[in-house]
Amino acid sequence: MPLKSRITATGSYTPRKVLSNSDLEKIVDTSDEWIIERTGIKERRIAKDTEAASDLGVEASRAALEHAGIKPKDIDLIIVATITGDMPMPSTASLLQNKLGAKKAAAFDINAACSGFVYGLSIADGFIKTGNFKKILLVGAEVLSRFTNWQDRTTCVLFGDGAGAVVIEPTTEDRGVLSIHIHSDGSLWDLLNIPGGGSRHPASEKTLMEKMHCIRMKGNETFKVAVRTLETLVVDTLKENKIKPSQLNLLIPHQANLRIIQAVAKRLHMPMDKVFVNLDKYGNTSGASIPIALDEALRTERIRNGDYVLLEAFGSGLTWGSALIKW
Ligand code: COA
Repeated sequence: MPLKSRITATGSYTPRKVLSNSDLEKIVDTSDEWIIERTGIKERRIAKDTEAASDLGVEASRAALEHAGIKPKDIDLIIVATITGDMPMPSTASLLQNKLGAKKAAAFDINAACSGFVYGLSIADGFIKTGNFKKILLVGAEVLSRFTNWQDRTTCVLFGDGAGAVVIEPTTEDRGVLSIHIHSDGSLWDLLNIPGGGSRHPASEKTLMEKMHCIRMKGNETFKVAVRTLETLVVDTLKENKIKPSQLNLLIPHQANLRIIQAVAKRLHMPMDKVFVNLDKYGNTSGASIPIALDEALRTERIRNGDYVLLEAFGSGLTWGSALIKW
């Protein structure tokens, strides 16, 4: 059997503080009914003032390492998928490496927004297949609440904080990551972005006044592109692997909007009981959403050895991607 990469353990961490839809009703002109009907979200988690992305990431990582039975010193590489890292430099992965005491690990972040975990898995898969690294820690960690405009009802109801982590190792067994597909279309960058704080609009009084450090989204347009793109992506991924939708045991989508998830499931003729959904509890946690969902799916025995599991994600960039895994 050729060398493949395999997710050998997962872990996740979500902050304790819950922000419910009715809490949001007190902040902006919205309603629990509207949010549930249009998004499926009931509540989301909010990090403590003292918690940054690496703090959430370290908890998720410790859980994943414990489940894998691996010591931090044995990790070769740490990749963190985040758009809400602790600081512009160093990388959140470097900060995490220090917190874990993963002394021999190389470390870097990737920015592919909500598709970050699938992009990270693709990078890890490549490193494993070349034999360069044997133990990779891939983490999605986000504190989106700090980049949310709490006066903008069109975005503030959508996002939440959390982290998920996976350990990736080589295998020669008939299982593991079967194929990964990543894509982007930068011409649509304007649909979803955080315009301030970079070299285009460095932090200034003006960027602060205009809340340019917060998420901006053309929600309705993004929604339409997401549905169209993801429908094509999942169909193509299965076709390429000669797997029928009926053979798929679990679809784990990026958790952005229940209506997007339902549209993709419908396109595959998949009943919703074969689709993992937890956005009602966490909202959209961007790069952390898939690893959190994966960890919960494993803990609740929604995935068994030999199952075909399809991950799919879509986000700012625009970026999108899928990964087909035989568990
Ligand atoms: N509460 C109440 N009303 C709201 C609201 C809220 N939180 N947010 C928007 N509205 C209003 C709008 O102002 C608009 O009012 P109008 O008709 O008087 O102008 C109306 O609801 C419809 O807005 P629209 O943006 O067309 O709603 P929608 O059905 O597209 O739902 C989103 C909005 C954001 C939930 C949806 O577009 C979405 O989920 N988009 C994609 C999100 C996504 O996937 N993003 C990231 C990819 S990772």
